[in-house]
Amino acid sequence: MPRAQPIKAARGVRDILPATIPLWRQAEQGAADVARRFGYQEIATPIIEQLELIQRVGEDTDAVAKELYRLDKRGSQELALRPEATAGVVRAYFEGGLNQGPQPSRLYLIGPMFRHDKPQKGRYRQFFQFNVEVIGGASSGFDAEVIELALGWLNEVGVQDLRLELNSIGDGKCRPAYLGRLTEYYRPLKSSLHADSQLRLERNPLRLLDSKVAQDQPFKAGAPKITDYLCDECAAHWAAVRRLLDAAGIEYQHNPYLVRGLDYYTRTVFEFYPGGASGQQDALASGGRYDGLAEAEGWPSTPGVGFAGGLDRVVELIAAKGDQAAVKPAADVLVLPDGDFAVEAAEVARICRSVRSTAVDYEPKSLAAKMRSANKLGVKFVVLLTPEDAARRSARVRDMASGEQTELEWVELPTRLA
Ligand code: HAM
Repeated sequence: MPRAQPIKAARGVRDILPATIPLWRQAEQGAADVARRFGYQEIATPIIEQLELIQRVGEDTDAVAKELYRLDKRGSQELALRPEATAGVVRAYFEGGLNQGPQPSRLYLIGPMFRHDKPQKGRYRQFFQFNVEVIGGASSGFDAEVIELALGWLNEVGVQDLRLELNSIGDGKCRPAYLGRLTEYYRPLKSSLHADSQLRLERNPLRLLDSKVAQDQPFKAGAPKITDYLCDECAAHWAAVRRLLDAAGIEYQHNPYLVRGLDYYTRTVFEFYPGGASGQQDALASGGRYDGLAEAEGWPSTPGVGFAGGLDRVVELIAAKGDQAAVKPAADVLVLPDGDFAVEAAEVARICRSVRSTAVDYEPKSLAAKMRSANKLGVKFVVLLTPEDAARRSARVRDMASGEQTELEWVELPTRLA
């Protein structure tokens, strides 16, 4: 039964059409090149994980609490599509025995993530990340290294105008006392806060600082700043990261309200924004340290730090700048049989393919119509084949730039086209 309406793509997901593929390759290739230059190795993990693993990312995390794609239960396991990759990479580090090798493990991963968020420009339900993780390294040097790598990648793919925001959110030792102070500060203001923030005050007060609603903004300035409440170890780490960034000539802004949407972070957190823009939805890359995540997943306590860059957003930015490479025709050579002899046309194409990409126009159209398509496609050469040519195993090669046409034998085609 024909449907009244054609079936479209699911909401919030996109096709990447051939014209944009070169930009994606540029962004991914740049990611792989920079990661390898820093000594990182590629890892790939499944896009489905056990629900329980994903929940360890933090049950108050939007990506887990509200936006998770849970799959129907199959057998005994509850599964979900990964909303982010760090939890899976940490799992793979232990399951694959990388924890037994030299430490730390420097890993990168490129792949799709899934969040059932409200779709809008730069925010998709299937989106692609470039993830970088250092697992098994506690030193502040690694924090600065992943920040330098993120910047290196963005610069490499042509994004120069950037703002780096940085903060430390302490650890299990110093954060509880700070959260006490923060709650004390916000408690008398509760009735003036947005309903979501009233809930955060009870469940996850740190995220109060993350509120983007206008109603909450006037109260932020007076809130205690976590960097004033760090324990000695966290304060030393925070100072060391900033010293390393200064030495590397990497500019940053300390944003005392930067807390990040995922709950697993400790100490360093950071986000890269395109120059001029603001707000969470525009972050091009973001990450931080997650020293408690391995333990939350049930593995031995192991420190880690990393980030993920949003490929969709980076590709959109380079596309908007118009830096993309010119769209290349799909094939250099088009074989045009003037009549119905697909066998010979296919054989000629096979011969041409030894030296150049080649396609055949098999449609039963006039030669003039086929020439018009060849012009539109922007091919370099057309190989014309009349029934007489085909019988003699000869063809006419037309150089589309000069208009010059030569008749030759099929065996001579590779030399002419090379
Ligand atoms: P995240 O901030 O949730 O962190 O995502 C990282 C980046 O992915 C964002 O900065 C943004 O560029 C991109 N992104 C996130 N959501 C979307 C979306 N719906 N549509 C398009 N792009 C999006 C993480 O995922 C952490 N796992 C990062 C990390 C790695 N931390 C430590 N290691």
